Amino acid sequence: MIPSVLPTYNRAPLTFVKGEGAWLTEADGRRFLDLGAGIAVNALGHAHPALVGALTEQAHALWHVSNLYHIPQQQALADKLVDLTFADTVFFTNSGTESCELAVKMARKYFYDQGQPERVEIITFDGSFHGRSSAGIAAAGSEKMTKGFGPLLPGFVHVAFGDLDGVTNAISDNTAAIMIEPIQGEGGIRPVPDVELKALRQICDDNGLLLILDEVQCGVGRTGKLFAHEWAGMTPDIMMVAKGIGGGFPLGAVLATEAAASGMTAGTHGSTYGGNPLGCAVGCAVLDHVATPAFLDGVNRKAGLLRQKLEGLVADHPDVFEEVRGSGLMLGLKCKAPNTDVVAAGYDNEVITVPAADNVIRLLPPLTLTEDDIAQALIRLEKTARQVQGQLASA
Ligand SMILES: Cc1ncc(COP(=O)(O)O)c(C=O)c1O
Repeated sequence: MIPSVLPTYNRAPLTFVKGEGAWLTEADGRRFLDLGAGIAVNALGHAHPALVGALTEQAHALWHVSNLYHIPQQQALADKLVDLTFADTVFFTNSGTESCELAVKMARKYFYDQGQPERVEIITFDGSFHGRSSAGIAAAGSEKMTKGFGPLLPGFVHVAFGDLDGVTNAISDNTAAIMIEPIQGEGGIRPVPDVELKALRQICDDNGLLLILDEVQCGVGRTGKLFAHEWAGMTPDIMMVAKGIGGGFPLGAVLATEAAASGMTAGTHGSTYGGNPLGCAVGCAVLDHVATPAFLDGVNRKAGLLRQKLEGLVADHPDVFEEVRGSGLMLGLKCKAPNTDVVAAGYDNEVITVPAADNVIRLLPPLTLTEDDIAQALIRLEKTARQVQGQLASA
């Protein structure tokens, strides 16, 4: 008999009932160090007092009003994002997938309104992940995500990760945009080098294309800048955001320049919940914390420390791990042992990591991780590595 919850997830045998900072409590009382943060969602950790306060205060005042009316919390969050980024305007969604939907629509509408309705194609990259909607799976294009769900939304051209010549060759009179994650998350923590991001910006400028960055996983302070592309000293035309921006409350956003957004006039797009008072009150509190030099300096300092210790872990366990990759607190351990075995052994040692493609485990801890938490992370990952090494030896 089918379970009452549609069985689309392979769930670990864990049920968490409480969270505080970087720690989760299992129903049986065990405390787990959370190096996954809900896959880069809990940017300020669990039950951060500022977020609990913002949500509670808003919940007492007003939960929801339609976007038929003005929403001051939404205005405030949009103003903050415009002040802090390349963007001139923001649309709020509830998830990364919805941000992908709008990014695609916005790019196509831009060219339609420019009198070039044939320019609908978006160039994307192998190994990418942009969500599970029809546009999201077509954008990623992998068999794993698309098989059985045809006919796929047309208009996506896929090139190999890192293949700039492939990008240039894929451009035609029908091309509208290039869409890319500055660091592939689900694809295995694969950073796009700064020079490549800059080159993609140049390619877009030379060919009159829009550049869409998907910062759903790598944005909101995760790499030690508010948004990852800032390291490369370039800006997109459109950017997809979600996950960390809500700190655990479902919230996403599409940020855009005035020109890129010019087709999105009244009535062209909408959302019942997107930008509602609860989500935006929390989003404002998240940004007030993350978008400060002191907070981002802290992320960089802790990231340096964690990375240095992980390099040592990899060197000590060459049968289990191959390398450390990533940026800031978006780190990956490329494994030699099966990554799912490493994640499962982590559960035995009360540390949460997240598997990704390319046999990688992801470390995406709360950005509020403390130095004591980092010390605990290493103790638990070390035990995990020894356990996996033992399993390999006895196999
Ligand atoms: C880069 C990227 N884009 C889009 C998404 C989809 O976001 P959501 O699951 O919130 O719909 C994800 C989710 O993991 C992601 O990592």
